[in-house]
Amino acid sequence: MTHFARIVGTGGYLPERILTNAELETMVDTSDAWIRERTGITQRHIAAEGEFTLDLAEQASRRAIDMAGIRIDEIDMIIVATTTPDQVFPSTACLLQSRLGVHGCPAFDIQAVCTGFVYALAVADQFMRTGAATTVLVVGAETFSRIIDWTDRNTCVLFGDGAGAAVLKQDTAPGILSTHLHADGDYANLLQVPQGVSNNLAAVQEGRAFVEMAGGEVFRMAVKTLGRIVDETLEANQLDKSDVDWLVPHQANSRIIAATARKLRMPVSKVVQTVAEHGNTSAASIPLALDVAVRDGRIKRGDTILMEGFGGGFTWGSALVNW
Ligand code: COA
Repeated sequence: MTHFARIVGTGGYLPERILTNAELETMVDTSDAWIRERTGITQRHIAAEGEFTLDLAEQASRRAIDMAGIRIDEIDMIIVATTTPDQVFPSTACLLQSRLGVHGCPAFDIQAVCTGFVYALAVADQFMRTGAATTVLVVGAETFSRIIDWTDRNTCVLFGDGAGAAVLKQDTAPGILSTHLHADGDYANLLQVPQGVSNNLAAVQEGRAFVEMAGGEVFRMAVKTLGRIVDETLEANQLDKSDVDWLVPHQANSRIIAATARKLRMPVSKVVQTVAEHGNTSAASIPLALDVAVRDGRIKRGDTILMEGFGGGFTWGSALVNW
């Protein structure tokens, strides 16, 4: 018997500290006008010293669990998408499991950078369709500020910290209609932190491991690729563009989002946008945006939602969801 996965609760958490464009003007050679015009970003949240990805993940998870109205011991799988784990190991998912007081169920991290939440959702969906999991906590959580070179204007204006979470419950009807995952590692060098534990631990230890990006090329590839995945997703479900009620895109840049919305022939009023206030929170950006639109009542039961993401790897993917 096929089972389906339904999102029954969402939660988001943003650190208290807000970093405005005006403050960035004092740190690098940039301007509020440039950042707004090229990215749509006006501010981003930055984790406090001593506040870690796990802390953000826990807050978002508790809010999602509250909305879902489930008991914590019902959770039988935890997946955390993150590029900025607190430790080399254990995984952030295992640390979160302990924080929440869950015991015994599988818990693991997924690393697909900004597509991480879509990857995690797809993995959860597979486990739930086979009946191997019934109640899954899926989290996207990041402290990207820790891998940013705050003297590099090409990258430091773009990113922020945050976490978003979703609780998925098994259902007899979907829920998640389909997920579509892709990657092409040939593009690794266009968006990367080149150092890591194995190849340059010293750089990591000395705090010299930072995001490097060929912005223009990433931009062009993102627009092209996200257009293709919209088509792929609609075709797989034999749906028309007009059947999609809400686009919940990865929040990297308002111009990339606008290009995808144009492809869907969707008015901006049907696109959930949080990039202005959150910046790019990588794996956290989609679940954070989803949570905002669920809580403010825009997304309603029965709506069809298209989530899509693109990020380092390159990785890209989508999830079509019946709310
Ligand atoms: N403030 C002022 N000027 C800046 C700047 C900043 N924060 N960052 C870069 N610039 C300058 C560059 O140095 C360059 O100057 P030059 O022409 O003198 O060399 C110029 O702006 C680049 O301009 P342009 O090519 O027109 O920028 P853009 O329209 O491509 O916008 C990005 C730059 C980074 C905003 C854009 O490329 C982008 O969003 N790329 C995708 C990034 C992304 O989404 N990454 C994550 C994917 S998950």
